[in-house]
Amino acid sequence: MIEPIRVAVSGAGGRMGREVVNAVLEAAPEFALTAAADPVYAGRTVSVALGLESDVRIEADLTSALGTAKADAVVIFSLPGVVMSDIEAAMVAGVVPVVGTTGITPERLASIRAFSALHGVGAIIAPNFAIGAVLMMKVAAEVAQYMPSAEIIEFHHDKKLDAPSGTAAKTAEMMAAARPQGFTQAAGENVPARGDEFFGVQIHSVRMPGMIAHQEVIFGGVGQTLTIRHDSYDRKSFMPGVLMALRKAYELKEVIYGLENIL
Ligand SMILES: NC(=O)c1ccc[n+]([C@@H]2O[C@H](COP(=O)([O-])OP(=O)(O)OC[C@H]3O[C@@H](n4cnc5c(N)ncnc54)[C@H](O)[C@@H]3O)[C@@H](O)[C@H]2O)c1
Repeated sequence: MIEPIRVAVSGAGGRMGREVVNAVLEAAPEFALTAAADPVYAGRTVSVALGLESDVRIEADLTSALGTAKADAVVIFSLPGVVMSDIEAAMVAGVVPVVGTTGITPERLASIRAFSALHGVGAIIAPNFAIGAVLMMKVAAEVAQYMPSAEIIEFHHDKKLDAPSGTAAKTAEMMAAARPQGFTQAAGENVPARGDEFFGVQIHSVRMPGMIAHQEVIFGGVGQTLTIRHDSYDRKSFMPGVLMALRKAYELKEVIYGLENIL
């Protein structure tokens, strides 16, 4: 019998974390949940705290969770303030982090790469695990080569802490890389209502109850526009991408940034 991929989850009780716990449990026997961390639910089992069928005990942090259980990979959907210590704790324990928490700046990515080289443990970091959103980014990079003007509007639920979203920043980065000559800039882009510039692209962030994660990339040319839009209506939309990353994470030695690199 093939052994299951052993999975830990950090931020297990959060909006994303509990979806991941559920997806991993539903994907048995390919995967097995072996550890969970979340300070809000510490000391209770997954079954008692989250109402999902598992006797795994939730620990206060990832170091404690990995101290008592073995895992091949850890899915991290904790908060931007703890994500770096989570990644470090995983790599020290020889466990590959699969990171969904946003706020991974280029400086943080450089530290993660250095830490990975030191410990010989890889990582997968994805600002967006929804496969449709990744395709939106790829298509936006393609279109960027041909259309001279572009802006991004991203829409998220009102509990989202950071802005712009990691997806919007990553989309802008991919579009800029595909268009070395840059985009034409409209007048007045530095006034607050015009959003903020990332990689030469204006990004506008809307926060609204009722929304999950949505993004429009609007391209403009002479007498025409082209709009690419992606909507995540449910947090389940991220789960096929998370499971795909977990399959790839097994014994990974390098750092992969962006789900498009493992599609
Ligand atoms: N990459 C993606 O596809 C994607 C999709 C949605 C959300 N996100 C990001 O995921 C992150 C989490 O989002 P959310 O909506 O689930 O947030 P949330 O606030 O609902 O959940 C975060 C959880 O982390 C827990 N936590 C706090 N400190 C911790 C610690 N030291 N160790 C372990 N857990 C800890 C909190 O108690 C909370 O339950 C955010 O950064 C969000 O932007 C990424």
